[in-house]
Amino acid sequence: MEAIILAGGFGTRLRPLTNTRPKPLVPIGNVPLVEYIIAKMPHKIVKKVILAVSYMKEEMERYFEEHEHPFEIVCVREEEPLGTGGAIKNVERELGDQFLVFNGDVISSVDVRKMRDYHKEKGGIGTLALWEVDDPTAFGVVGLNEKGRITAFQEKPKKEEAVSNLINAGCYILESEILDYIPSGKVVSVEREVFSSSDVLDKGLYGFRFSGYFEDAGTPEKLLKAQKVIFRTHMNEDYLNIKNKKVKIIGENSQLDVETKLFRPVVIGEGCVLRRCIVGPWLSLGSDVSVGSYTRIENSILLNNIKIGKKAYIRNSIVGENVIIEDEVVVEGEVVADGEHLR
Ligand code: GDD
Ligand code: MG
Repeated sequence: MEAIILAGGFGTRLRPLTNTRPKPLVPIGNVPLVEYIIAKMPHKIVKKVILAVSYMKEEMERYFEEHEHPFEIVCVREEEPLGTGGAIKNVERELGDQFLVFNGDVISSVDVRKMRDYHKEKGGIGTLALWEVDDPTAFGVVGLNEKGRITAFQEKPKKEEAVSNLINAGCYILESEILDYIPSGKVVSVEREVFSSSDVLDKGLYGFRFSGYFEDAGTPEKLLKAQKVIFRTHMNEDYLNIKNKKVKIIGENSQLDVETKLFRPVVIGEGCVLRRCIVGPWLSLGSDVSVGSYTRIENSILLNNIKIGKKAYIRNSIVGENVIIEDEVVVEGEVVADGEHLR
């Protein structure tokens, strides 16, 4: 079957990083988020990946032209963003009888094979992967009966109105019949207008609960949480392992002097120069990053080509490309735009 990745949102909660790149290309461990989603797709089940692109579509298209994948990958454009439902409808011509949908900013341990078997067994118009949380108000929330059937869907309800703690984990298996419930050429939210509609609920929407991990990397804090999850689940001594991809923990030509203290887990790109500094834990450094003496960096994501002076302190932050951070500057809980010069 086909797998759609919804990859056209503005990524507003990750600005200013997403002013210059679409959210699915924001990296963790120097690998774009979207790759972790693609890695979840079993080759035997998924024959084609369709990227529903809109915001910064040229960047998305360029990325997939430049990087090989073991699937046929197509990018389908929306000139204006059509919402999550409109985006699905917009790729209708690419779809067969049954297809997968993934939100482009979620990393999770959902087992697509098991979910497909469950979907088959239940025989509904769709199956949604579900995850349990303490506070469901930032998510889609479902009411579920004892047969696993979804009885209600509420997108971002108020705390007192939420019918459960079970949330939509942003991964669906849908029958093509659901496309009849989405008008074409219009902005449609699949959550608010399709999953919540009684017509669709009457056709049988089922919930597939899974355990392991789930993270929506759509805010700076959650992106850093997602990095922790990825490092915990994908890393060994020397490599970050993503299906078909191995990323060296310390890249080629990177120099770390003996006085540098490295607290794992970290991923360091190529051509970095680290002198007498303290780096990690929970840190991604891109390529060509230099770090001066007595500087300390932890729980952060730094992109490529960054110069950091001495005695600087960077924590809980995301730093864009081509940034200069002068001596003694403190960056804490910030998202730094590409090209900034912090003094
Ligand atoms: N192509 C396209 N066009 N994609 C879009 C559009 C659009 O107009 N709008 C949003 N997307 C993509 C985003 O890029 C993202 O990958 C995905 O659709 C979900 O949008 P978000 O903006 O990240 O939604 P959310 O995080 O607030 O909520 C969604 O995800 C939760 C799980 O993380 C909903 O699906 C919730 O129900 C769900 O619980
Ligand atoms: Mg999201």
